[in-house]
Amino acid sequence: MTAMQAPRGMRDLLPGDVEQWQAVEAAVHDLAGRWGFREIRTPVVEHTEVFQRTAGEDTDLVSKEMYTFVDRGGRSLSLRPEGTAPVMRAYLEHGLQQGPQPGKFYYVAPMFRYDRPQKGRYRQHVQFGAEIIGTPHPAADAEVLTLPVRLLQALGLTEVEVRLNSVGDAACRPQYLAALRDYFNTRLEELCEDCRHRVDRNPLRVLDCKRPGCQRVVHDAPTVFSFLCDDCRRHFDGVKRHFDLLQVRYVIDPFIVRGLDYYTRTAAEVFSGRLGAQNAMFGGGRYDGLAQQLGGPSTPGVGFGFGLDRLLIVLEQEGLARPVDRSAEVCVVTMGETARIEGVRLLDELRAAGIRAEGDLLDRPARAQMKHADRLRARYALVVGESELAAGTVTLREMSSGEQTPLVRAEAVSALRGRLRTETTGRL
Ligand code: HAM
Repeated sequence: MTAMQAPRGMRDLLPGDVEQWQAVEAAVHDLAGRWGFREIRTPVVEHTEVFQRTAGEDTDLVSKEMYTFVDRGGRSLSLRPEGTAPVMRAYLEHGLQQGPQPGKFYYVAPMFRYDRPQKGRYRQHVQFGAEIIGTPHPAADAEVLTLPVRLLQALGLTEVEVRLNSVGDAACRPQYLAALRDYFNTRLEELCEDCRHRVDRNPLRVLDCKRPGCQRVVHDAPTVFSFLCDDCRRHFDGVKRHFDLLQVRYVIDPFIVRGLDYYTRTAAEVFSGRLGAQNAMFGGGRYDGLAQQLGGPSTPGVGFGFGLDRLLIVLEQEGLARPVDRSAEVCVVTMGETARIEGVRLLDELRAAGIRAEGDLLDRPARAQMKHADRLRARYALVVGESELAAGTVTLREMSSGEQTPLVRAEAVSALRGRLRTETTGRL
């Protein structure tokens, strides 16, 4: 049976759905271009190390969710579960630090996570992500993290609120981690088994646990704000100031720590009530240590990843998904073999003239071809029969009214194009 089913948690996007995706993708490319981001495409698989060294061995993403396999050359490769480490890997590999700085990159790409599938959570999902690499300036954090907010606004979702936090850096985080450890050790028996292990190895991960018991403990945990060093505090103030400047709403949430280990300083997430409390629409932040984790020179970076599958769910539920009409403008209907041959030529001319045109590939009788034109919701049929062949004409039939007009064959394509144009401008 599995030969007739997509893998669990992976979806087919069928015609009809795909047009919605194309509309969102067009908005994404347009916006990213205006913001000065250049598209980057990295392979779907990377050396497993790329993720182990950066996202972190203790994260769910690396320890439980990666699709990892050994290739025929004995290398451990993984389907990419996220886009930031691959972009940094490419930046370092190709010496992109020699280009204009900072580097600004974006991607619209499938990611793979072996997670428990549910609404808005898939084993293959598509992320729109953007990264600014090469500057520690808080203006960069604000520029990149407000871009997805502008995308949501452009698509009609105006009530967006970003949850912002700082997770500190190498100078101040150790003190915070020690305080967290001390606190969690006083309430160890209330934590889930995974979290009990995390307390020693990586207590920030406990803050990110979604289990209600752990959330209750987290509620009273010390927050990072008493521990931030002066540099981190200044940076965070700078980020907030720029958000204010851009008039993008945010709330400070000290428990936004993100599910990946590479973050330093800024962490941000945006939720939607439409997706449930656990599922963010987008998340991101700063990762000033990531390049070094990969073995490169110290290189600051900041970015976000936006789950487009989730965005489409929200747009649909908010009634903001716009229907896209891709139905045929005209169907060529023919009667008899000579007319069929003429129809093939006519179809090609129509398409070359920029008209969405469809014909018959099943040798159907004319009446069935007409029915097919109806099913395709074509506006017109162009009929070629023996009498038309003899007279050097074709018959234009308006499908909704049944009204028929003879057109001189040589002028038929331009006449139809003229009609379609006036209809379109008339509609605007
Ligand atoms: P992330 O929070 O793991 O961050 O994922 C980013 C977004 O991808 C999420 O907010 C969500 O919208 C979407 N997403 C994640 N997992 C799934 C899933 N299983 N099904 C559907 N959508 C999903 C990152 O991946 C970072 N690389 C983001 C980033 C870029 N940070 C800095 N630059």
